[in-house]
Amino acid sequence: MNTNLTFHDHKPGALSLQDAVVNGLSKKQKSIAPKFFYDQRGSELFDKICKQPEYYPPTIEQSILSENVDEIANLTGEGRILVEPGAGNAVKVRLLLNSLLPSAYVPMDISFDYLKSVATHLVNEYPWLRVHATCVDYTHSLPIPDLVPDGPRLLFFPGSSIGNFERDEAGQFLSMIHEAIGQNGMVLIGVDTKKNETILNAAYNDEAGVTAEFNLNLLLRIQKELGMDFEPDNFKHNAYYNKDAGRIEMYLVSKKKQTLQINEHSIFLEKDEQVHTENSYKYSPDEFISLSVKNGFEHVKYWTDDNSLFAVYLLMSK
Ligand code: AVJ
Repeated sequence: MNTNLTFHDHKPGALSLQDAVVNGLSKKQKSIAPKFFYDQRGSELFDKICKQPEYYPPTIEQSILSENVDEIANLTGEGRILVEPGAGNAVKVRLLLNSLLPSAYVPMDISFDYLKSVATHLVNEYPWLRVHATCVDYTHSLPIPDLVPDGPRLLFFPGSSIGNFERDEAGQFLSMIHEAIGQNGMVLIGVDTKKNETILNAAYNDEAGVTAEFNLNLLLRIQKELGMDFEPDNFKHNAYYNKDAGRIEMYLVSKKKQTLQINEHSIFLEKDEQVHTENSYKYSPDEFISLSVKNGFEHVKYWTDDNSLFAVYLLMSK
């Protein structure tokens, strides 16, 4: 047992998948929240999406972070407590650790098994780093473990994960972050920009079909965990950029009229009926800065690539 590693399990799985799925599929516009994508297989498929040539955000964000890490470290100072909601494979934080030299790292993730393996690798790779791995649904709370020492915090929220929230919810989430990090807290957040829709549509419809597999895995997960009776081939992936709303919308489309059986619940689907599984909102820098300023932050600086495909913002608590 490595003494630099502690675990804090808030049991996010306790929020019942069955309730969420049955409720979501009983609405007029059927929907299942994107956080349910991330079982072990879903987390792995998301990693694979990040390696697809069309899915530009990770590559661009990582180059923005590596190119500017010294400036970021100068602006934040060393020794902060680094908190990362939805840490996933913790690849991006590795670009920062040796420059930011955080006094502790608090990765938060909804999948305990995944968090466990990622955190274990991390303490082996960085023997000086204290890791407090926290299993939680960050959309509900950002519980920083009691044994994390006092000191200024830096919340790292890369990957445009904030895009999964509705625009008003994104503002509420920024206020929740503001509350969680307290005085002198800072935020380093990666947000996807608005851009040419050809680029956006390709990013969510990769040639290799990995995004489609990721989307469809949601049904396989429900089948595995709830024993749902259905034929995977009867669904297909649909994702497109809704320009007016400034968001990617993702759906599972029923290829035929069918009934899903989830224990005692029967769910009827028409041919071509769509189950909404994700929104991914895009923000111009002006929009995002004004959203953060409305929700407790001062804008310090932002960095982008030559084509403004992605942006990383540094915010300071007001
Ligand atoms: C993890 C929410 C940032 O919206 O781009 C990628 C998830 N879904 N491809 C995104 C996702 C399909 C991703 N976020």
